[in-house]
Amino acid sequence: MNISVKNNVSWVGKIDWELRKFHGNELSTYRGSTYNSYLIKEEKVALIDTVWGPFAKEFVKNLSTEIDLKKIDYVIANHGETDHSGALPELMRQIPNTPVYCTTNGVKSLKGQYHEDWDFKVVKTGDRLSLGKKELVFIEAPMLHWPDSMFCYLTGDNILFSNDAFGQHLASESMFNDTVNQSELMYEALKYYANILTPFSALVEKKINEVLSLNLPVDIICTSHGVIWRDNPKQIIETYLKWANKYKENQITILYDTMWSGTRVMAEQIAKGIVQTDKTVTVKLINIGRSDKNDAITEIFKSKTILVGSPTINKGVLTAIASLLDEIRGLGFKEKKAAAFGCYGWSGESVRLITDHLKAAGFTVVDDGLKLLWNPDEAGRKSCVDYGRNLAKKL
Ligand code: FEO
Repeated sequence: MNISVKNNVSWVGKIDWELRKFHGNELSTYRGSTYNSYLIKEEKVALIDTVWGPFAKEFVKNLSTEIDLKKIDYVIANHGETDHSGALPELMRQIPNTPVYCTTNGVKSLKGQYHEDWDFKVVKTGDRLSLGKKELVFIEAPMLHWPDSMFCYLTGDNILFSNDAFGQHLASESMFNDTVNQSELMYEALKYYANILTPFSALVEKKINEVLSLNLPVDIICTSHGVIWRDNPKQIIETYLKWANKYKENQITILYDTMWSGTRVMAEQIAKGIVQTDKTVTVKLINIGRSDKNDAITEIFKSKTILVGSPTINKGVLTAIASLLDEIRGLGFKEKKAAAFGCYGWSGESVRLITDHLKAAGFTVVDDGLKLLWNPDEAGRKSCVDYGRNLAKKL
């Protein structure tokens, strides 16, 4: 399968409609994904990235219908993670002497994973590789999102091959941003950013500004996952700059788990108090024990404030909440406010524990939280509504 991108550039990757979990089980991908590989047939022929290992044979077989593999002059490995390099061993068995262009860290990650001594050519930002009339320009992009990541740019066609950046886990047969459902596209781009790139936001902003300062016209952005941005590709660059800058909407998300509904009732009553006081704010409730963690993280990414609730169990919190708190600490959200709540039957540690975790995760905790003994009665419900009202006034 081959999809024409522009002139002598074509997509030769794999559309994976079945993918539901990525990074092991870490990331949900309910709309599948694609592993994008690009073939450039100028006077010289370059292949940019490959596909995930399980599709290696299929990929190489398909590629060999597009071109005699021996005519590939250069293999470009923008990123060593196995979803893009997984078919390299299969390919390189057929063309073992073809040079592989990557960063210094790319050599380390490819050797570390495949234990092969291919003809690595190390490139740095600004290095150029002639394909004849056109050139590939390399731009290192360390920690976007691995130390080895890089972009490359094709002169003449003005295509930026951005690898993971600007990607989305979104399978589509059409493969272009103007041919898919726009709300699905932007949701998947946001989910991808929130769950994968949030920790590197400062670097995202710096790298985009560095690329913009090169004054290279960008007509098309070819990512390594999801659609190719050919219709107004600047839109995703501008959106990334927004997301990278401590992004928040006027949203409060209440995330909780509950054993016998006491903490759920608290969540609902707090929400009631918030919306009674602030008619403009979007309030969402997520039972994290029953919800997709990555969708919840996407909602946290959008929020100006989060409330996290759990009853106390064995002097701790419910495991779904413990897992969420651990995850958000790693993501390093910036400039978000938070508070804790929960009911308890006897010892009641959950609110303090959640509060401590939120502080450690970099959230500004706005108060000591709200805890209630047993299930909320009428007075307890009222105290939740009052808490929500006060909170809305404070934010
Ligand atoms: Fe899509 Fe970092 O691999």
